[in-house]
Amino acid sequence: MKSFVLLLSLTVLSGCYYDNEETLYPESANCTVPTTSTFSVNVLPLLTNRCNSCHGGSAPSGGIILTSHTEVIKYVNNGSLMGSMNQTSGYSAMPKNSGKMSSCEIGTIQEWIDLGALNN
Ligand code: HEC
Repeated sequence: MKSFVLLLSLTVLSGCYYDNEETLYPESANCTVPTTSTFSVNVLPLLTNRCNSCHGGSAPSGGIILTSHTEVIKYVNNGSLMGSMNQTSGYSAMPKNSGKMSSCEIGTIQEWIDLGALNN
C-alpha cells in the first residue's frame, strides 16, 4: 500500500513536471514529431544520444542493446521500450538517472512504432 501511494505521488509529481516543461524550456515547443518517423533518421539518433552510453558497447546495461533494429524491435514487442520511456509503473524508468525524455522525443519513437516499427 505504501509503495502504491509512493508510485501514485511520483506519477502525479512527474505529471506536473511534464506539464511545466514547455513553460520552463520554451524551445521544446518548437520540436515537432515527424509525420514519417524512420528508424535510421529519427529513432536511432535519439537512442544513441539518450540510451546507448549504457545500452551499447561491450557490456550493455541489463544485457539490453539498443544499437540496431534487430535488438530494438525485441523491446518494442515486449512493451518495455515505451514502458520505460513513458515511465509506466512495472517498468524501470529510463533514461536511468536522468530526466524523462520530452513528449516530442517520446512521440517521435511512438510515431515510428505506429507506422509499423520498420527497419527503415
Ligand atoms: C545510465 C545508464 C542507463 C541509461 C542512460 C539508460 N538505461 Fe536502460 N537500463 C539501465 C540499466 C542498468 C538497466 C537494467 C536494470 C534496471 O532495469 O534498472 C536498464 C534497463 C532497461 C530496460 C528494461 C526495463 C524493464 O523494465 O524491463 C529498457 C527497455 C531500457 N533500459 C531502455 C532504455 C532506453 C530506451 C533508454 C534511453 C531513453 C535507456 N534505457 C537509458 C541503464 C540505463
